[in-house]
Amino acid sequence: MDPETLEKDALAAVAAASSLDDIDRVRVEFLGRKSALKLALREVRDRETGMTLNALRERLETAIDARENDLRRVELDRQVSEERVDVTMPGTPFPRGHLHLITQIRREVEDIFLGLGYTVVDGREVETTHYNFDGLNFPQGHPTRSPLHTLFLDQQTVLRTETSPSQIRTMEAQEPPVYIVSLGRCYRRDTPDATHTPTFHQVEGLAVDEGISLADLEGTLDYLLKTLFGEERRTQFTTNYFPFTEPSIEARVSCHICDGSGCPVCRHSGWIEVGGAGMVDPNLFEFVGYDPERYTGFAFGWGLERIAVLRHGIPDLRELWRNDPRLLRQF
Ligand code: DAH
Repeated sequence: MDPETLEKDALAAVAAASSLDDIDRVRVEFLGRKSALKLALREVRDRETGMTLNALRERLETAIDARENDLRRVELDRQVSEERVDVTMPGTPFPRGHLHLITQIRREVEDIFLGLGYTVVDGREVETTHYNFDGLNFPQGHPTRSPLHTLFLDQQTVLRTETSPSQIRTMEAQEPPVYIVSLGRCYRRDTPDATHTPTFHQVEGLAVDEGISLADLEGTLDYLLKTLFGEERRTQFTTNYFPFTEPSIEARVSCHICDGSGCPVCRHSGWIEVGGAGMVDPNLFEFVGYDPERYTGFAFGWGLERIAVLRHGIPDLRELWRNDPRLLRQF
C-alpha cells in the first residue's frame, strides 16, 4: 500500500461525497476495521512507518469529519426550507373552560337589573345574628335561628342563610331612593338532596322610594321572569309569608316545558314557583331610620340554582356542583 496514493484516493472520495450516507461509506472504506490503512497499521514493525501511517489516519479523520459537518449543515438547510410548518394543517384541539352555569345566571341577572338602573352591591357571607335575623324582623324563637338550621361561627356570628341582610346594610348606608341587587352565596344546615345543597346562591333585590307599590314589584318580577324564561311566559303571584315583607308573595311563571298544560317539571300544575318577594315591612324602615310614612319599598330573594334547574330541566340540583364537564359543557 502506498500511503500517498491512498491519501489522494481518500481525499478525492471525501470531496466527492455528497450525502451523509456517502461520507459514512467513505469512512468505512478508508478508516474501517478492514480498510487498507487499518490492516497496514496492524502490520507495522518500525516506528517511522507507524508515525507516518498514524499521521495519515489523523489527516483522513479530520477531512472526513469536516466533510460530514458540511453535509450535515446542508441537510439541515434543506430540512428547514423544505419541511416548513404547514399552517393549513388542523391544530391540536385543546380544551377551553367557560363560566359555570350559576356564574352565567348571576351575571345575566346583574345585567338585567343594571339595565333597569339598579346598582349591584356586595353583601357579606359571614354575618352577625343582628343582620341575619333581628334586623329582618325574625321573631325570637323562629326556627331558622336554631343551630339546627343555621351554621353558627359563634353566638353572634353566622354564615348568612339568605342574601336579605344586604337589604339592611344597604339601607343603613344610604338614604332612599334605593334600587339595588345583591347576589352571592348562602349557607344552610341542609342535607343535600335533589332540591337542596348546604351552599347555594341567591339574588336579593330591593327598591325603596316614594310611592312604590305592589304593582311595581309585580311588573319588575314579570319582566325578570320573562327575560329569564322566555318572552311568551305568563306570571302569577300568590300569597306567602316572610318576616321582613308585608304582604309577602310568591312569584310563579307558566311552565316553559309544557307551556302550562302539565308536565313533571311543573308537577302537572302548569306553574313553577320561582321565589319569594313582598313589600318591605315598615318595621325594617324603623330599624334603619327611614320614615315609613314617606317611603315604601319592595324586595325579593330567589335562588340561582333553582332558576338554573328549572330553566334547563336539570333533574337534580346537586348535579351543578359535581363539576362533571359532561353536564357543565352543555351550558
Ligand atoms: N330570604 C328569603 C329566603 O331565603 C327569600 C326572600 C323572600 C327574600 C322575600 C326577600 C323577600 O327579599 O322579599 O327564603
